[in-house]
Amino acid sequence: MTTQLVLSFYPEIKPLEKQVFRLAGKPIENLITSLSGDLNFHENTKELHLAHKAHSFPAKFPPQLPRKFILELTDIGDVVLDPMMGSGTTLLESYLNDRQAIGFDIDPLAMLVAQTKVETFSDSELYAAGRQILKEAKKTVSLYPDLLNAQKEKRYDEKTLEFLDYWFTKEVQLELFALLVEIEKIENIKVRDFFKVVYSSIIITKTGGVSLALDLAHTRPHKAKIVLSRSGEVISGNKNETKQHLIKILRSPIDEFEKKLNQNLRGIIKSSPSSLEPIINFGNAQSMPLPSNSVDLIITSPPYASNAIDYMRAHKFSLVWFNYSIESLTKKRKTYIGSEGLADLPETELPKSVENLVNEIEGKSKSKGVSLRRYYIEMTLVLQEMFRVLKPEKSVIMVVGNSILAGLDAQIEDSLVEIGKKIGFDIPSVGIRQLDRNHRMMPTGSSVDITSQIQQRMHEEYVIGFYKP
Ligand SMILES: C[S@@+](CC[C@H](N)C(=O)[O-])C[C@H]1O[C@@H](n2cnc3c(N)ncnc32)[C@H](O)[C@@H]1O
Repeated sequence: MTTQLVLSFYPEIKPLEKQVFRLAGKPIENLITSLSGDLNFHENTKELHLAHKAHSFPAKFPPQLPRKFILELTDIGDVVLDPMMGSGTTLLESYLNDRQAIGFDIDPLAMLVAQTKVETFSDSELYAAGRQILKEAKKTVSLYPDLLNAQKEKRYDEKTLEFLDYWFTKEVQLELFALLVEIEKIENIKVRDFFKVVYSSIIITKTGGVSLALDLAHTRPHKAKIVLSRSGEVISGNKNETKQHLIKILRSPIDEFEKKLNQNLRGIIKSSPSSLEPIINFGNAQSMPLPSNSVDLIITSPPYASNAIDYMRAHKFSLVWFNYSIESLTKKRKTYIGSEGLADLPETELPKSVENLVNEIEGKSKSKGVSLRRYYIEMTLVLQEMFRVLKPEKSVIMVVGNSILAGLDAQIEDSLVEIGKKIGFDIPSVGIRQLDRNHRMMPTGSSVDITSQIQQRMHEEYVIGFYKP
């Protein structure tokens, strides 16, 4: 049975009263006060704007995190930057709270999701287009499956088709392609992108959505060994497979699209909350087209070191459908911060303690050491660039997770603190927050050996406050 596509009649959730939270002390004292508060954010989920739920994203911020720092550390009209914006959580909160949001990312899916989340839409237009997509997709799947298949085979190259065949059943491919053909008929780019986000969101989830992947945030996603229909019939795979974690119940993409569309319709922004339109651009955090001393607050989280979350490996599950070939995505993957292997980077001197740590890890595993050195050099360039664009007496809030490399603690937060100090930042405080791995796309599972200090640290996130004097 399918759900009914009903027009959303939910009122828009208004952001909290503006201004009242702004701390009144000296800038550096405010940073310390702000970081000393509760950073776990288990409360207040009701007042979050539903646009935040449009699409999953690996290591996405809880929206309360950027909101807290925006309200406590900036004024209305101030410039708030996220140079690695991902799904745009910082941008949306800045926009809702009347700050000038600026965001960059090099990931095509991040661009699509972040841009769409801050657009203003008319729900009747989306509703009409949504009905049309669903009606036509259902029709072509039932009447013209061979034609759809032939179109699909013609459209994608051999490698991409191999990828699709490996990760999606034939039935799922057919429905996904039928939906895509209808979405692409929409002329208004903004509206088309809204539906592309809905489409992608039924594939990119922690458990792999309608694909055969079981754990998309995992560096190498596992594939389901046995696939069941919703009624429990075996669709494919070994019937004798008993390992519960390798069994996947597959849902119909058209049904999932309809459900997710209903949800995303409730989260659209119907009237601009601010005259300060967010500025979103493809761009590298290591060199941003921004003037020096122009930003009031940076709130960001870089990728994990050594590809612990592999953005491109996860995102290609939906990007391939949008005509990005497997080959082009594989090339692009090497350019992300946190990627493994060598990169063409300027000679950069790391702080002594960081250099010693990298050498120690390199002694245990050459490749892990090389990746970690690359990560710290790239993060040096990012921090230098953030120092340049930030106004004096302003701060960077950087959220980082830890990594274990070659069995050793990569000491990410301590190393970034040392790198920040070398560049000229004061770092008066580092906050800690506990991670809820069951609810977010994170690199490791939810089980933790509480006797292992190193493992416990993998269940924490560090909120570093860098202050530009
Ligand atoms: C942890 S995610 C950010 C998640 C984000 N805070 C959110 O709430 O969705 C890190 C992001 O850094 C991006 N990234 C990686 N290398 C980059 C670079 N050189 N410049 C800009 N962004 C980059 C990745 O594409 C990814 O979207």
